[in-house]
Amino acid sequence: MVTVRAPGKVILYGEHAVVYGEPALAMAIDKYVYVTARVRGDNKINITAMDLRLVGVSVTILENGDIVAKTDYGAVISALSYVKRALELAMEYVGEKKGVDLVIRSEMPVGAGLGTSAAVSVGTILAYIRALGYDIEKRDLARLAWQVEKDVQGAASPTDTAMATFGGVMYIKPEGSDVTMEPVKPGAEVPLIIGYIPRTATTKELVAMVRRKYETMREIIEPIIRTIGLITRRGREALERGDLELMGALMNINHGLLDSLGVSTRQLNEIVYAARNAGALGSKLTGAGGGGCMIALSDKADVKRAIELMGGYVLSARLDNEGAKVISEE
Ligand code: MEV
Repeated sequence: MVTVRAPGKVILYGEHAVVYGEPALAMAIDKYVYVTARVRGDNKINITAMDLRLVGVSVTILENGDIVAKTDYGAVISALSYVKRALELAMEYVGEKKGVDLVIRSEMPVGAGLGTSAAVSVGTILAYIRALGYDIEKRDLARLAWQVEKDVQGAASPTDTAMATFGGVMYIKPEGSDVTMEPVKPGAEVPLIIGYIPRTATTKELVAMVRRKYETMREIIEPIIRTIGLITRRGREALERGDLELMGALMNINHGLLDSLGVSTRQLNEIVYAARNAGALGSKLTGAGGGGCMIALSDKADVKRAIELMGGYVLSARLDNEGAKVISEE
């Protein structure tokens, strides 16, 4: 029996602008998806998704075997497609098919933009391969998990699967149709409080909405996107120096620009401002927007309370530096 974990991630700076060739900065967080795999004596795959720990999220297994993760706010995610494809690719990789019992649980809300589907894919591949007694290099693990995301979603950026595999902070640079990722070493601990609220739009819709604005008001939108790119570059330097004050100030500007692109919502703005008023060094939405998650640079209980009072669920997070790893083997 093998248990592995794979971290989620947040985007510190640069979401949306990254679609237009600007860099983004992503940080793996110490909130994990855990996958336990036990080899069976037969060919069956038996998957159990344990209760997700957060309020308002439940996972049910339907009679046809589909796993549906359902949140309070109506988002329904079929996690099974990721697990199934991850198992297929893991079986191909080792060239051996064995039945397994899989138990999957998540410390993060599913579908909120924290990279849970990538963590499920990475965790499932690693757990299966190790349960059968094989090994896999991280490069291969990231590549296979990215393939899972591409196969399930049609298109996917390699960011989430790379973060779930390698952990740490990565400077993501799109180069044509390629993406390079440079590890970044923070000069200080980065305490984050993550708030999340129901999503009212999908990533696809939000990216398309920004695209329409870009096409109809290019001379206005283009400089906003380039400025977000500058913020990401300065944000990276601030992080490397451990200058949390500057990081916070840059988060605030980044949020204002994301709001100007139309991807924030009233409630998200309220939470972002409540966190600042309660003493956060900075705060912004993270990910695609339209509800979902925000981050506040703080570890203060006051900031958590402020977010909760505004109707957000709260999660504290710090950097995960290890990425996917085996945590027990029997
Ligand atoms: C979503 O987490 C980040 C976006 O920039 C979309 C993307 O880069 O694929 C909004």
